[in-house]
Amino acid sequence: MLAHKSVMVSEVLVALLSDIDATYVDCTCGNGGHSAELLKRLSTKGRVIAMDCDREAVAHNRRRFATERRFEIIHTSFAMLRAITDRFQVTGKIAGILFDLGVSTHQLRSAQRGFSFDHDGQLDMRFDQSIGESAATWLATTGYAELVRVLSDYGEERMASRIARRIIAVRENTPIQRTTQLMRIVNAAKSRAPKRKINPATLTFQAIRIHVNRELVQLKDALQQTWAALRPGGRLAVISFHSLEDRIVKRFMRAGSQNYTARRLPFELPPQQQPLWHLIGGPQRPDSTEIETNPSSRSAILRVAEKQCSLPLTS
Ligand SMILES: C[S@@+](CC[C@H](N)C(=O)[O-])C[C@H]1O[C@@H](n2cnc3c(N)ncnc32)[C@H](O)[C@@H]1O
Repeated sequence: MLAHKSVMVSEVLVALLSDIDATYVDCTCGNGGHSAELLKRLSTKGRVIAMDCDREAVAHNRRRFATERRFEIIHTSFAMLRAITDRFQVTGKIAGILFDLGVSTHQLRSAQRGFSFDHDGQLDMRFDQSIGESAATWLATTGYAELVRVLSDYGEERMASRIARRIIAVRENTPIQRTTQLMRIVNAAKSRAPKRKINPATLTFQAIRIHVNRELVQLKDALQQTWAALRPGGRLAVISFHSLEDRIVKRFMRAGSQNYTARRLPFELPPQQQPLWHLIGGPQRPDSTEIETNPSSRSAILRVAEKQCSLPLTS
């Protein structure tokens, strides 16, 4: 596994770690960095239940924590959170849940995973390569309107229609199967766009990755299961890396932390769960030292909420 530097480790530990004898859930184990830091601080009674939908990440962590009996990892999507806490009989008993969203350095740098135009490889982009369709298959079969929708909704790409037209024109003659091939197509479509620091294909890659992994749907599903999984006073910590994810997390936490009308709620929540959360501080960002030593952390935003129970409702 290529090294992945865990992001905002001390902030996550401050946010989550309230009881060294308790059970914690790491929903996105990745290289296992956050799990390892939690385990270092837990007693012999504490434990970490981890998940990742990437088989390589799961295999890596099984090796990394082979002698660690306080650690379990399951190959699954975090959208199965409730099923996992039920299986371990810890629903309602978890002291802290962590989501560290997005792609690990290992995934980004592995050419064969197809996440990045910096490494030429087959356009796959799936976290879990055993399900769903690869980016190449989706690009080969999807219609113009759907292409534009995905690029606009998940990439906030202003030149979505131009890029979509170009993709469709190219694929009539040549299948689009390589990361660098797609990058060149997008760069050509955006050749007249004002020059920016990031590669012009960045938003297109983000959009396709979010789409093939159903990332935003999975995140919404999983967040809705966190309250039931936590014990009263248990903490939810989410690190997101772009505004679409962060918006979902922010709205979810805010909606559950104040009085609201059902009409305004972006999620359907059982009435007995009001209010659900107490927000712990505002959004946190990595400090300048972390950004200097780990530039991939620069867009990270950490939000933390604590499970509330039996709070009187004010009208
Ligand atoms: C940024 S990495 C996590 C790094 C980790 N916190 C560490 O310190 O090493 C994100 C991980 O989340 C996983 N992931 C993404 N979507 C997921 C999902 N729906 N369910 C489970 N894991 C997911 C990815 O496969 C990746 O390994």
